[in-house]
Amino acid sequence: MSEIYIIASGKGGVGKSTFAAGVSRELAYREKKVLAVDCDIGLRSLDLLLNCAGDVVFNWGDVITNRCAVNEAIVKAECGVDFLAAPLYSEDEFTPESFKDMIDALSPGYDFIFLDAPAGIGSGFALAAGAADKGIIITTPDSVCVRSCARAGDELKKTGLSELRLLVNMFEIKPTEKSKLLNIDECIDETRTQLLGIIPLDRSLAFQSVTGEEPGEFSPSAQAFDRITGRLLGENVELVFE
Ligand SMILES: Nc1ncnc2c1ncn2[C@@H]1O[C@H](COP(=O)(O)OP(=O)(O)OP(=O)(O)O)[C@@H](O)[C@H]1O
Ligand SMILES: [Mg+2]
Repeated sequence: MSEIYIIASGKGGVGKSTFAAGVSRELAYREKKVLAVDCDIGLRSLDLLLNCAGDVVFNWGDVITNRCAVNEAIVKAECGVDFLAAPLYSEDEFTPESFKDMIDALSPGYDFIFLDAPAGIGSGFALAAGAADKGIIITTPDSVCVRSCARAGDELKKTGLSELRLLVNMFEIKPTEKSKLLNIDECIDETRTQLLGIIPLDRSLAFQSVTGEEPGEFSPSAQAFDRITGRLLGENVELVFE
């Protein structure tokens, strides 16, 4: 059976899909079987970040509505991650129950399933939350993002997840010292959630959105993904601020 994580946030654009792609790829490099599922109906992007957009024919909406078999919808990305694309339209067609049934049926074949949720706490979030048993909430270190991340976290806590962790993305050590951005302790306090890790602001991650190419292995973000992946696998990895 797999560990099924929802990746959620309050505000949009904080790096959920970037994180889903990075951590899925890193786990696949460590020989884990990983399925990444884009749950952002109408605004999908994870196919671009996993560099497999050209291979997507069907999506999980087609699976739920019996237009194709699940193995026809799963794309094998070159990096070793299996990927399921989100439908382009008709959010109303899918119930949390039908989505959960599909994910549960896939669960025995994977070590990890990541559900890349849309921003906010609307119906797409509810769909992903209903199928997950663990959660990762993501924020950048500014008050507006942290507050809405805390709100998303509170919603997830109500669903009875077995574990919820916080990821702080786009972190900059120097501006944090000097300006009004929150520090890591404040992010933890405000969200009342245990820290999973920190990913620094890294321009090579922004390039990934354009080219689909992952950051080089010595880039600060690649090293952060490596540490976070270790923690997800139960390793005791030190916290690094860079
Ligand atoms: N640590 C980082 N450093 C620099 N840029 C980043 C970082 N993380 C993400 N980005 C960039 O921020 C933008 C938004 O990232 P992404 O699409 O992953 O966010 P999201 O939370 O999934 O957005 P949405 O809510 O729209 O789904 C992208 O251009 C991405 O490359
Ligand atoms: Mg996204």
